Amino acid sequence: MKAEILRMLKEQSGYISGQDLCRQFQVSRTAVWKVIKQLEAEGYRIEAVRNRGYQLLDAGDILSKAELESSMNTEWAGKNVLYFNETDSTNTAAKKAAEDGGPHGTLVVTDSQSGGKGRRGRTWASLPGSGLYMSIILRPQLHPSSASMLTLVAAMAVVDGLKQKTGLETAIKWPNDIVCNGKKLCGILTEMSTELECINYVVTGIGINVNNESFPEEIRNTATSLRLEQGYRSARGELAGAVMKSFEKYYGEFIKTCDMSRLKEEYNRHLVNKDKIVQVLRPDSEYSGTSLGINDGGELLVKKESGQIEMVLSGEVSVRGVYGYV
Ligand code: BTN
Repeated sequence: MKAEILRMLKEQSGYISGQDLCRQFQVSRTAVWKVIKQLEAEGYRIEAVRNRGYQLLDAGDILSKAELESSMNTEWAGKNVLYFNETDSTNTAAKKAAEDGGPHGTLVVTDSQSGGKGRRGRTWASLPGSGLYMSIILRPQLHPSSASMLTLVAAMAVVDGLKQKTGLETAIKWPNDIVCNGKKLCGILTEMSTELECINYVVTGIGINVNNESFPEEIRNTATSLRLEQGYRSARGELAGAVMKSFEKYYGEFIKTCDMSRLKEEYNRHLVNKDKIVQVLRPDSEYSGTSLGINDGGELLVKKESGQIEMVLSGEVSVRGVYGYV
């Protein structure tokens, strides 16, 4: 009931009468009042006026289960929310939840991570009150070799969700970074559990730099946040809702064909290095060429100077512009 009252308060521009809330939830005035007091204790600023009702004045950037639930406007993605004030990594927590039978679409969110994981064994700085750290459990009927495309699907959802919620234009640095003005705003890490040729579950983790005001020295030149780009703080819960809404849309298209054929064109429109020279860094070799965009299998096509077109699979490969990170 708390999340639903919060949702109604957010959706209403004026006052909602206490009586309407009582009727809607079939509870007493005291029960409604108690929920309002709980929300106020969590930091929501709510005005109560006799004979008019309640009005939400300011929701700030409160992250909680109720905030997340009240921000979801989806059929299945993020419908089931697990929230932690702190955890080691939402990917690890989501894997545990998946092992315990957590359903498709379960979203694990935290305010801070003590062991946030990045790609290739790196760490992901995850201080409280700054980033949006979330991981979604997926149970697709898919060959394990196709699972890496879910990272691309998630990247499209982040670009779209950011655009819907904040108006910000961002781009995708294949395969798993979202960039804004040449700096990294978001990273995505997909992990999975397989058995023979089947996927048990996939966990796609998304880390968005939202309210970070600065970054550690090592990444200061390559990282950015919504706060730094836009000059004001954003509500992480609402952003999670927007990204989940977009994720549901793109996942729906992806799963029809189990490849990127229906999404490829849009993905390539958002690709930061499309038609530019990129450097492909393999563990054992490196080469440069022109990035042509992805194919149906989500591989990046890179045309070498010789004219030969390489299909780059994600995994251990790093692709960057010739002048640096992007
Ligand atoms: C990268 O760019 O290297 C991927 C970063 C992924 C970070 C997110 S934050 C939420 C989820 N939990 C983790 O431990 N990692 C991902």
